Amino acid sequence: MRAVPDAIQRMIERHGADAVCATLAPMLTPERIARIDGVLAARLASVITVVEDTYDPHNAAATIRTTEALGLAELHVVQPEARFSAAGGVTRGAHKWIELVRWQRPEDAAAALHGRGFRVWATSPAATASIDDISVDAPTAIAFGNEHAGLSASAIAACDGLVRLPMYGFSESYNLSVTVALAMSRIAARRREHLGRLGDLPDDRRATLRARWFALKIRGAIGVLERALG
Ligand SMILES: C[S@@+](CC[C@H](N)C(=O)[O-])C[C@H]1O[C@@H](n2cnc3c(N)ncnc32)[C@H](O)[C@@H]1O
Repeated sequence: MRAVPDAIQRMIERHGADAVCATLAPMLTPERIARIDGVLAARLASVITVVEDTYDPHNAAATIRTTEALGLAELHVVQPEARFSAAGGVTRGAHKWIELVRWQRPEDAAAALHGRGFRVWATSPAATASIDDISVDAPTAIAFGNEHAGLSASAIAACDGLVRLPMYGFSESYNLSVTVALAMSRIAARRREHLGRLGDLPDDRRATLRARWFALKIRGAIGVLERALG
């Protein structure tokens, strides 16, 4: 379930990413363009965070920020009751730079990811297998559950297996957003090592994202594009 295209997306679809970039580039400093290109080069599209029915907006926001900061491209949110909302200040704007994909049913999220070649792993403190033992030779998505109930039975059934983050203390589980940070940083590092490079965005996706990020960095970019490109 992709988001409805916004004004920037419509501009890119109508005129092409290269024309959008060429129009906006003179309004950006070389340093800013280099920063955008550096982040794009490190974007890891083959590792995806999935969260189901998050309750606390601070956890949701921290999950968005961590996912973006690790250089991942997508966060999938399963929200049967349309509950997922992020505490504004905590994301520090990170929500603008990642693709948030919303689902109502975990089965649909897992099926779509499987269709794209991903393995999808559920997490639970009660699992016996460790996240450190899963193979990252395929694109990998990791699913995290609600703060109180954990992942739903249907989400666990739709995944390829259940894994735990090692714990050695008295606490019975990690905080949700802490688990996301621990798990995704391990998996992203292992996947990057497997690939032998930081990022793996396909060329067409990188070009589209570059145009989008150029537009996001410029106040009034849509007006500029309308005047220049129609
Ligand atoms: C606070 S925990 C929920 C605890 C819940 N009672 C349960 O047993 O799943 C919220 C989420 O964080 C993740 N989590 C927390 N600690 C974990 C651990 N040690 N291993 C794997 N996942 C963990 C799981 O995704 C879990 O659904």
